[in-house]
Amino acid sequence: MIKKDDIAIRYLFDQGDEEEESRSVYWEYHIREFSIDMDGLIHGNSTLGSAPKARSALRRFMHRLMQTPMRRLGDKYQFSAECEKQGRRIAARQGRLFNLDFLRHSLTLAMILQHIELKGPGDVNLVIGDGFGTMGSLFLEASPERKVILANLTKPLCLDLLYIRKAFPDVTIALASNKKELVDALSDNNIKVIGVQADNSGLLAEAPIGLAVNIVSMQEMDLSFVSQYFDILRQNPAAKTAFYCCNRRFKISNFEEYPWHTDDAIFENGVCEWSQIYYDLKAPFWHHRNRDKKVVWHRLGYLNKEPSSDLSHEQLKKPE
Ligand SMILES: C[S@@+](CC[C@H](N)C(=O)[O-])C[C@H]1O[C@@H](n2cnc3c(N)ncnc32)[C@H](O)[C@@H]1O
Repeated sequence: MIKKDDIAIRYLFDQGDEEEESRSVYWEYHIREFSIDMDGLIHGNSTLGSAPKARSALRRFMHRLMQTPMRRLGDKYQFSAECEKQGRRIAARQGRLFNLDFLRHSLTLAMILQHIELKGPGDVNLVIGDGFGTMGSLFLEASPERKVILANLTKPLCLDLLYIRKAFPDVTIALASNKKELVDALSDNNIKVIGVQADNSGLLAEAPIGLAVNIVSMQEMDLSFVSQYFDILRQNPAAKTAFYCCNRRFKISNFEEYPWHTDDAIFENGVCEWSQIYYDLKAPFWHHRNRDKKVVWHRLGYLNKEPSSDLSHEQLKKPE
C-alpha cells in the first residue's frame, strides 16, 4: 500500500543511510557527514544549504537589509515582491530564517512566473534535488492546483518532506516507490505532494511534468544521472515541459555538457547573478564568488520533447 504522511517520512528516515546507486562520489561522501532528526534538525556537516532556526527580530532585520542588492536583481520580474512575501510566510511557518538560500528560491519563482503560467491542474511541478522543501513549498503556495513531486536522495528527501509538512500541515504527502503507486498518487485528489527516491527516478517518466526545477544539484551528480533526468523531462506525457536549470558551470558535471538541444525554446540563459553574491559580517560584507571557476549559470525554457539519444547538444550555443 502507498505510504503516506508519517509512515512515508518514517520509512525514509529509517532508510536514510542505506546504499543508493544514484549518489555521485561527492554525495557518497557527504551524505555520511550528517544525520537528521524527526524535527528536521541537521547534526554534523551538511552541504545541503542552510535553514537557520534563529530568527530574532534583529536577525531578520539584518538579513533583510543585507539582501537588498540581491532583491534588486528581481525588480525586473513582475511578481518578485509577491514571491518574496510568500517565501517569508513559509519560512515563518517552518520556523526558519528567510536567509539568502530562501531568497534565491523566491527570485527563481519570480523569474519562472515571468514566462510561464503555472496553471493546468493535470500537470505537475517537479523539483529535482530540493533542500528543506524550499522550492516545493513555494510551488504549493503559488500554484496550489498543481501537485508537486520531489525527487531526491533518501535522507535529503526525508528532510524536504518534513519541512513541507511544517509549512503545510494539512497537505497529504505520499511516497511513490513503483509505477502503480505513482499512478495512484497522481490520480488521488487528496494527495498534493509526492516524494520519489532518486533510485526510483525512472518512475517520473509516467508523470505529466509541466515544469521541472533543478537548482545547484545537477552540478553534484554524475553526467549519466543528469542525462537520465533530461530523458525523463523530454519523454514524459505532458504536452510541454518547462525546465529551469541553475548550476555551476564546472563541478562534478559541467553545465555545457548536459544534453541540451538546439530546439529547446530558451527564454532566459546567462549567469545567475543572485547566486554570484553572498553576504556575511566580514567587510566589505557583500562578496562576489570567483567569476571563472564558480560561475552559476541558469537557463529557463521549454524542452524539445524527443528522446535524448537522438539529440546532439554540441550545437547549442554555449555560455561565453
Ligand atoms: C547543494 S544541495 C542544493 C539544495 C537546493 N536546491 C539549493 O539550491 O540550495 C544539492 C541537492 O541535490 C540532491 N541530489 C544529489 N544527487 C541527487 C540525485 N541523483 N537525484 C536527485 N537529487 C540529488 C541532494 O540530495 C541535495 O538535496
